[in-house]
Amino acid sequence: MALMERESAPIYDLNQNVFLIGFMGAGKSSVARKIARECHVASLDLDTFIERRCGMPISEIFEKHGEEKFREIETLTLQTFADSDEHIIISCGGGIVCRERNIEILKNTKNYTVHLKTDADTAARRISDISTRPLFNDLESARARCLSRMPAYEDAADVTIDTKGLGVYAVSQQVIYQLKGEGILCQRRG
Ligand code: S3P
Repeated sequence: MALMERESAPIYDLNQNVFLIGFMGAGKSSVARKIARECHVASLDLDTFIERRCGMPISEIFEKHGEEKFREIETLTLQTFADSDEHIIISCGGGIVCRERNIEILKNTKNYTVHLKTDADTAARRISDISTRPLFNDLESARARCLSRMPAYEDAADVTIDTKGLGVYAVSQQVIYQLKGEGILCQRRG
């Protein structure tokens, strides 16, 4: 009996760096990982990269060196990846829009930035351990922080995807659809 040939999953390439931004709990890291697995592209989580480089969790960087130091490291790391021609999908920490310089980097036409929109109440339900998020103290202040950052997320992003009521899979499909439509995520030929 002839063996049926299995169709192999298509492989994609990114022709720009893609940054996922949005408030804590928007699902940026999970969505980046999902897209990477499905499309065979590389992904990176900016906070995880910083944690490895500094040899300590983000909460400890905040505790020992303060938020300002963390923001400096965050900007340097963002700049490094934005300058790279590796073309990967990068999930950013929720406070990436706190610095004007970061917004400029994200808006650079060399990069494509996707805002995964969420609200603080939805985020609180998604975050399993808020002790890992030094700036998610209580719901009331998270609501205020989320609202005050919203214009900056919108400003930095090329597109916004509302994640309310959607799981990681559904959001990743919307991002993939958008990236294909923009010609940023292209199926490899041959
Ligand atoms: C922060 C969000 C965190 C992390 C740090 C600060 C913020 O990342 O970068 O705790 O200011 O919103 P996540 O958005 O991945 O939780």
